[in-house]
Amino acid sequence: MSFPLNIEETEVLARGKLPRDVFGYYSGAAWDAQTLRENREAYQRLRIHYHVLRDVSRCSTECEIFGEKLSTPVFAAPTAFHRLADAEGEVATARGVAAAGSLMTLSSLSTCRLEDVAAAAKGPLWFQLYINKDRGFTRDLVQRAVRAGYKALVVTCDTPRWGVRETDLRNGFHLPPGIEPVNLMASDTRSQSLSHQGAGLGDTMSWMLDPTLTWKDIAWLAGEANLPVLVKGLCRPDDAVLAVEHGAAGVVVSNHGGRQLDGAPATIEVLPQIVEAVGGRLPVVIDGGIRRGTDVLKALALGACAVQVGRPVLWGLAVGGADGVTTALEILRHELEHAMALAGCSTLADLTPDLVRPGGQ
Ligand SMILES: Cc1cc2nc3c(=O)[nH]c(=O)nc-3n(C[C@H](O)[C@H](O)[C@H](O)COP(=O)(O)O)c2cc1C
Repeated sequence: MSFPLNIEETEVLARGKLPRDVFGYYSGAAWDAQTLRENREAYQRLRIHYHVLRDVSRCSTECEIFGEKLSTPVFAAPTAFHRLADAEGEVATARGVAAAGSLMTLSSLSTCRLEDVAAAAKGPLWFQLYINKDRGFTRDLVQRAVRAGYKALVVTCDTPRWGVRETDLRNGFHLPPGIEPVNLMASDTRSQSLSHQGAGLGDTMSWMLDPTLTWKDIAWLAGEANLPVLVKGLCRPDDAVLAVEHGAAGVVVSNHGGRQLDGAPATIEVLPQIVEAVGGRLPVVIDGGIRRGTDVLKALALGACAVQVGRPVLWGLAVGGADGVTTALEILRHELEHAMALAGCSTLADLTPDLVRPGGQ
């Protein structure tokens, strides 16, 4: 296989390129990986009730979010440690994402300086934040992101603790020397803690998480940051309503790609209730298990304004650096555009909920 036809083939190629423990870290999930599987299988249970005889000679995948126009509604989710896949790390990813006309959220656990990524990116960036126990440190990090030109903050809320990923424990996964979450290394104590190689990665990183976080911290951040704040990692309609009430500008329906609470529902299953609860007051983005353009079509029809992909971008990066990232996102955009034509839809606004129903209905 010289070039990948689809995301599954991209993963096969990436597996052949990456060291076993790195592939295990990227692909792995919490405990029995039930939620990881459900994220995929739930898409496969949905059927597309397509229209016929509509003019679909031109189909557009253009979308808009917070005033930003993009060629595709498939964004790059925040994922950690890109220099494990490519020497240029997140700088290469940002280039590849921009070339695909998409949007990237940079992880707090980036292995490149957030300023360097912003300087290299030709497209819009959002910054993902873990609100740190040290609010002064969090405030400084937010200010750095604002100064560097990031357009929104995505606060990850499904991590009061790290999920237990047994593949990493079994492989003794740790960061090799020279690859570090550089944006978090502002003090000597942190540097020592973060570069400590003996403990599991979860132990090493847990200083960063704050299990006392509540909705009032979202309100604090929304007031503090002069940027839209999206709440990432919720799976319940009542939590989405709380996000609205505490000043969020958007929500990301996500179970962290099955890496946190195993047994959590597939995101596509909870999406319609969340969209209904939010009632158009803010944009709803979704991630988890999206591997085909038809998955994107289903999520948008059920009310998401955009989707994010995590592992597919990492597979692209491992296979072909920045170009590989562009290819992975382009595969999904082309598949979406093709599926739209076959479903009788020429714009994203034509993707309405009646198009999608569970099989057997
Ligand atoms: C290797 C890896 C690292 C991740 N790191 C982060 C992170 O640093 N911050 C975050 O909010 N989510 C992180 N996520 C979760 C992704 O943002 C996203 O929710 C998930 O990957 C979507 O599922 P998918 O991989 O099936 O597309 C990570 C996911 C993976 C696979």
